[in-house]
Parts: sequence; structure tokens; C-alpha cells
Amino acid sequence: MAGVTLREVTKTYGEVVAVDRVSLEVADGEFVALVGPSGCGKTTTLNLVAGLIDITAGEILLGDRAINTLDPKDRDLAMVFQNYALYPNKTVFENLAFPLRMRKVAKPALDEQVRRTANVLSIDHLLDRHPRQLSGGQQQRVALGRALVRDPQAFLMDEPLSNLDAKLRVQMRAELKRFHLELNATVIYVTHDQLEAVTMADRIAVMHLGVLQQYATPDEIYNRPVNTFVAGFIGSPAMNLLRGTVTTHDGQAAIAGEGGWLLPLEAEPARRALSSSGQVVVGVRHGHMRLSLTPQADWMEGRVYTVEPTGDLTFVHLKLGDHLLVASDQADFRAAPDAPIWIAFDQEHLHLFDAETELTLADGAAPARAGGRREAAAV
Ligand SMILES: Nc1ncnc2c1ncn2[C@@H]1O[C@H](COP(=O)(O)OP(=O)(O)OP(=O)(O)O)[C@@H](O)[C@H]1O
Ligand SMILES: [Mg+2]
Repeated sequence: MAGVTLREVTKTYGEVVAVDRVSLEVADGEFVALVGPSGCGKTTTLNLVAGLIDITAGEILLGDRAINTLDPKDRDLAMVFQNYALYPNKTVFENLAFPLRMRKVAKPALDEQVRRTANVLSIDHLLDRHPRQLSGGQQQRVALGRALVRDPQAFLMDEPLSNLDAKLRVQMRAELKRFHLELNATVIYVTHDQLEAVTMADRIAVMHLGVLQQYATPDEIYNRPVNTFVAGFIGSPAMNLLRGTVTTHDGQAAIAGEGGWLLPLEAEPARRALSSSGQVVVGVRHGHMRLSLTPQADWMEGRVYTVEPTGDLTFVHLKLGDHLLVASDQADFRAAPDAPIWIAFDQEHLHLFDAETELTLADGAAPARAGGRREAAAV
């Protein structure tokens, strides 16, 4: 296996900058998830690494060897695509064996590798069937198996679990993670599902409009998002983001928001807010809010919108000024729609962003490039 390095990689289609100066270092044996909303450039980035399309500018290395001028077949990468195609006239066994036959693997080793892969993917009972005799999810597992059966320098996977039902997806997520750990495989894994990314990856690269927003561990991305885009994209339910103006209240820094809410700040967030342009975006995750159905001094008053019990947690959607927020409380929390509710934000876990730049006001944050393709309306 080998690491993969992207240096200032760009791909343009006419006016559209699909991938905009992306630099990324994937270490040998590392599992990196490339995430972002539809159209942000994930598949294009992966296809550039695979060599299926030519880069407009930049450089791609496998280990310390530049590969961006090599043919795809000479790059020694195994790929699983969003739109996979199996050989319709070959059995599942032969579909899995094909990449090994191409590499002239001897029969005993070939048999062993095919059966081991089929076992990992729970398709051992399907080896004699043809693709047309399989469900969509089974076909996708065979496609995945065709990549996993090999021992390439790195694996490139584009939404390999997208056709599976929810339960199978969770199971396959665990299998892929085991596979990665056992083989110490280098994996670049594209998904638009942030949960897949945080559960499987060593590091996550978040993309938006062709631009890499943040590249860090799931923990770092979740706890210290560099800008409002990452803050809102990673985490479910999404982080609450509220625009407000920095002001003072009773001699203390505070944030005043649309619809009349006022958030008094403790010393540390106050210091960060005061370093802003004066307009900030406050970010708070659902688990970092306290709720009370009786008035509390200095808490903000809102209204209950809906209450969603899930079994182990109850999500409370509530109106604060003009904002609709989601908080979570204990399983037995209940409240009537439109009931007054008092809300406090856990100030130790408060995220603050400058509303002008959308960048975090946290100390020591790496300077991020604010998202956005250079041309208008690219998507
Ligand atoms: N061949 C092409 N010609 C012109 N534009 C293209 C081409 N391929 C991709 N694009 C554009 O480049 C951008 C990135 O596309 P890409 O397929 O990489 O997105 P993605 O992040 O994989 O999205 P999804 O999650 O929907 O698969 C999009 O705006 C897309 O319309
Ligand atoms: Mg895609």
C-alpha cells in the first residue's frame, strides 16, 4: 500500500471549476472520507486520482511517484464506482476472480482470495449466480468485492454503499472498517453521508463548491469546525446557526439576534465575539442546550414548535426569535406546541464565527479558504 498526495489539483470544464486547487495528503494505511453535498466535486476528485479524467492543473502522487500522467491501468489502484457495472455473462465468482485472472494469480490463491472476500461481504452463497439474478444491494456488494479482492496500492470508493438498505449499510460500514484495519489499506472513500464519514474515517476532507474546506480527524471537525459550512454539514441534527450582532448588556458582552433574543456571554466567548467584525454567527449543537419550561434568570425565552421522542432522546424543535432550533433533552421530556420555553446555551461548547467571513473565531484555528467556486452559479 502507499499514500496518496494531491497538490493544488484543479479540474475545470469550460467555466465550471469542478475541483479548485485541492491539496490533500492521505497517509499510507489511512482511511480518508471525502464528503460534501451533491455537486461539490467528490467524484471528480476521485476520478482524477484514478486517472479516468485528466487534471487541468496540479499534481497527484502515489507514494513519492507522480502518477497523474500514467494510464489508469498503470496506477495500481482499485476502484468502486457510484455507477458500477458487473460482467453480465460471468458468475459472481468469475466477476470477483476477474481482476485476479488479469494479474495471473495462481488458482489456489485465487480461490482463497475470492472466497475470503465473498465471506467478508456475505455473498458466499451467491457465487454461482449471474448478476441478473441478484438484487441491487447484492450487485453492489459484488462490485465492492471486485475491488477488495485485489491488493492494490490504494482503494478508491465512490459511494459504495448507496444502493444498500439502511440495515445492510450499517453492517457493511462495520465490515469495511474491519477490512481497512486488517489490511492496513489506504482508502479514499467518497460519500455525501456525513455519518458514514465520521464513523469510518481516520480523517475527513469536507468539500464545498469544489473547494476543500477542512481536512482533519472526525473529532476535530465535529468539535472545531473552521467555518459555518463545515459546522452545518457535519453532525445530525445539524448544528444550530444563528446570526446576531455583538452588543453589551448590563456591562457584559452579549449577542442580540433577529426577533429580539439576547444571549449574554461569559468571559471566554465574549473575548472571541469582541474580536469579530461585529456581526457573528453563533453555533450550538442540540446536546449543548439546556431547556426549562419554567422561567430562568438570564435564559432566553422561546416557544416550543414540535417535540420528537426517539426512544433514547427527545428532540425539541423550538422558535427563538426568527430562528427554528433543535435541542435534545431526556427521553421523557414532553411539552405542548407553542408553550413558552427557556433556553440556555452551554457556553463552553459555543461556536462563534464571523458573519462576514464565515470563519471561526476560535483561537489557533488554521486559516481556511472560504468556500465557493470562483465563477458564479456553477452548480
Ligand atoms: N463532464 C462534465 N462536464 C461539465 N461539468 C461537469 C462534468 N462532470 C462534473 N461536472 C460538474 O462538476 C461539479 C462536480 O461534480 P461531481 O460529480 O464531482 O460532484 P459530486 O460531489 O460527486 O456530487 P454527487 O454527490 O451528486 O455525486 C458539478 O457541478 C458537475 O455538474
Ligand atoms: Mg459523485
